Amino acid sequence: MDYSEKVMDHFANPRNCRKMEDANGVGTVGNPTCGDLMTIYIKVNDDDVIEDISFQTFGCGAAIATSSMITEIAVGKTVEEALKISRNDVAEELDGLPPVKMHCSNLAADGLQAAIENYRENNQ
Ligand code: FES
Ligand code: FES
Repeated sequence: MDYSEKVMDHFANPRNCRKMEDANGVGTVGNPTCGDLMTIYIKVNDDDVIEDISFQTFGCGAAIATSSMITEIAVGKTVEEALKISRNDVAEELDGLPPVKMHCSNLAADGLQAAIENYRENNQ
């Protein structure tokens, strides 16, 4: 199985892999295909911008790489923009994933959406 250099880099040096105590949105999703779990934490400021984002993942290397990558894609975006980040965007930014690993990028995109939903519920 071939992983791109970007995937290997994000796996070996994950960005923003930590729990966030003062998050105002938290989303946990499970992957029914493999049983892996991912939690995404976001801190959204008064301008609706994601000023901090982090993750914790119980999962494979591709799940770690995709969650690391999505934190880099989403930081600095508005909630509205971040909602548009698709499963494919994550894989593309990593220069692709092997086909059997595409479901791992779903976990990152779904986790971010769940965190945003949670943020919106908290702020109604
Ligand atoms: Fe997810 Fe192996 S199936 S870590
Ligand atoms: Fe489960 Fe990658 S094998 S998320």
